[in-house]
Amino acid sequence: MTGHEHDHDHGHGGEAAPTDAAQLWDELYRSRPKVWSGRPNPQLVAEAGTLPPGRALDLGCGEGADALWLAQQGWTVTAMDVSAVALERAKAHAQETAPGADIEWVLQDLASWVPEPLFDLVTAQFLHSTVLPWQQSLRLAAAAVRTGGALLLVGHHPAGLPPWGRHNSPDKYFTAEEVVQELGLEAPEWRLDVVDTRHRSATGPDGETATLADAVLRATRLLPG
Ligand SMILES: C[S@@+](CC[C@H](N)C(=O)[O-])C[C@H]1O[C@@H](n2cnc3c(N)ncnc32)[C@H](O)[C@@H]1O
Repeated sequence: MTGHEHDHDHGHGGEAAPTDAAQLWDELYRSRPKVWSGRPNPQLVAEAGTLPPGRALDLGCGEGADALWLAQQGWTVTAMDVSAVALERAKAHAQETAPGADIEWVLQDLASWVPEPLFDLVTAQFLHSTVLPWQQSLRLAAAAVRTGGALLLVGHHPAGLPPWGRHNSPDKYFTAEEVVQELGLEAPEWRLDVVDTRHRSATGPDGETATLADAVLRATRLLPG
């Protein structure tokens, strides 16, 4: 599935083939039985908690805690990730805790995904990858929001990165203001609801604590793209 024989289809100046993302993330997920906390991300709860449920897309859903939370709030959820290992784990967790949850799990590399504007909410939380630049993945996220729908993008703010793990590649990270600029989120097509930096305390894998900063962007699509 991930053979190098296809590299010539993608390679220009060292660009990664889409399958590289699957390899990278599968490896990370296989390295530990559980990578994330299992709790929904706080900015998702803060921002989506006030929205009327509809059809939601969780991009880079990982082990599925956000998708599960959304389903429990009444959303019909499509949860997408490039890692088959993460999706298997997410599915098993959802089946165990909420067997009737309305979630479709989709194995998809965003690098080869063609979005359609179908969703009332598109959320991407910490969709950080060195393989696909954030500018590209967040643009795809915006293209999946239907008119009247919400775009929610959350990432580690470059000035408040976790001191643990491998957060050593500054170009992976963005501020909410940079997202607005890069994606051209402006009137009359978009209304900006939240452009913010939020601090929170967090605990690392070895129990160490730190104050982190989240870049938070929420926007409403007012006109078709
Ligand atoms: C840092 S994790 C965040 C997971 C989850 N959103 C959370 O907050 O717990 C990033 C996720 O994005 C996924 N991802 C990275 N690059 C991707 C790509 N090109 N296509 C689809 N998913 C991707 C990874 O597999 C991983 O699960």
